[in-house]
Amino acid sequence: MSKDKLVIFDTTLRDGEQSPGASMTTDEKLRLARLLEKLRVDVIEAGFAIASQGDFEAVKLVADNIKDSRVASLARASEKDIRRAGEAIAGANAGRIHTFIATSPIHMKYKLQMQPDQVLERAVESVKLARSLCDDVEFSLEDGSRSEFDFMCRITEAVIEAGARTINVPDTVGYGEPGEYGELIGRLIGSVANADKAIFSVHCHNDLGLAVANSLSAVKAGARQVECTINGLGERAGNASLEEIVMAVRTRSDLFDVETGIDTRQIVPASRLVSSITGFPVQPNKAIVGANAFAHESGIHQDGVLKHRETYEIMRAEDVGWKANRLVLGKHSGRAAVRARFDELGIQFANQEELDIAFARFKDLADKKHEIYDEDLQALVSDVRLEKAEDRYRLVDLAVTTGGGKPPRVHLVLQVDGEQCSVDCEGDGAVDAIFKGIEKLVESNSNLALYSVNAITQGSESQGEVSVRLERSGRIVNGTGADTDILQASAKAYLHALNLLLVEGRAHPQREGI
Ligand code: KIV
Ligand code: ZN
Repeated sequence: MSKDKLVIFDTTLRDGEQSPGASMTTDEKLRLARLLEKLRVDVIEAGFAIASQGDFEAVKLVADNIKDSRVASLARASEKDIRRAGEAIAGANAGRIHTFIATSPIHMKYKLQMQPDQVLERAVESVKLARSLCDDVEFSLEDGSRSEFDFMCRITEAVIEAGARTINVPDTVGYGEPGEYGELIGRLIGSVANADKAIFSVHCHNDLGLAVANSLSAVKAGARQVECTINGLGERAGNASLEEIVMAVRTRSDLFDVETGIDTRQIVPASRLVSSITGFPVQPNKAIVGANAFAHESGIHQDGVLKHRETYEIMRAEDVGWKANRLVLGKHSGRAAVRARFDELGIQFANQEELDIAFARFKDLADKKHEIYDEDLQALVSDVRLEKAEDRYRLVDLAVTTGGGKPPRVHLVLQVDGEQCSVDCEGDGAVDAIFKGIEKLVESNSNLALYSVNAITQGSESQGEVSVRLERSGRIVNGTGADTDILQASAKAYLHALNLLLVEGRAHPQREGI
């Protein structure tokens, strides 16, 4: 018997980008959208068009370029938001306006300061307006899992009548529990008279670590769209992770009556791209995409896997994009081979200049490191971003002296607004000296909130990937830098974060009043 389709709605570019410090440039969003298209996600939520001019442009760019996935923009239930979303997705092959309003007593009373009937009226007007601009409209009952059931039924029936094709019931604050949340979705589908005219969707946050479990429970109860993100990125503790949902449904096909259209071999490349763009490392023990997800440490496990793989493995590493032999390129690889590999990784360059810079970086790296892996190429692309003409701060030179019982000393040369300047500085360790030196020249008034180093590949010649999180006046940014020399990588990451601090902030969909 054929199975129902489970629609995979990826919101890495919207809810994922709401993670503190995870902001992405327009180019990065397009690069990721292309990889999501290759992954064959059904719907890409490209952003919140009204949030800023940059967000609008990013949604439009994604909508104009992506052909195989539907492209959605989020909009609060207000005329201005919906018209802006409609404008941003007008060029899409297949577009969607995703409008929402909160339906829980606590949100209606304190945040919206509206009566339930006013909320219902606003929801219906919004869906009608959205339908006049786009024939695919999704409506979300924000904080659905804490809403009153009878009101949920009334509003759901009314917005389906007004033309919504997808009804999303978010567990906005990650409060749901799998049994209870699944039951809620099943009851809603069973109680709304016109439920057969819409697809029911879930959108779960991970505050209690239950986002995936809640989503899967809802799928068993009849939900046919899951909203999720790569690596589980998202507001606060994140959203349900796409890779876990997709692989759970596939691996336990004996329990789920649904199948997705996802090309699972693109999962690991997508995870790496999200991690390198956002500077959020993937924890080694993360399911599916963590470095240890398919590694067997204990002798008993290794022995079992060698004798018969299924003794300890429930999925094949290669099915989710881990390559048995991940060596890709070396010093003698030519431009065509490098370009082809970038293409396969879903990495595209905005112009010839960017490709030239990436190729030159590749050659430099190949001189320092014999074997270049996919991960190296992905990190290298993040670095190419730092070559942008509009960047205010750039690293020109860095020399570090340590030893002799003296504190580490750095000589640092930066380009600031096109002018070179230099400083000599000491610190409690080389990294501290570098950051102090940069601050002496730049005086950013920001606080260092996080510093982390990860080896990109195995072995001591691996590049180090550094993440630097800076906070200034409540704004958080994450900078990344990669190099075989982790001190260079640290300086690059700090400067990347400073450049990001200069980019204008955006409105937040759930924190602005309507
Ligand atoms: O978490 C949430 O409720 C959301 C909605 C806007 C869909 O992100
Ligand atoms: Zn959300």
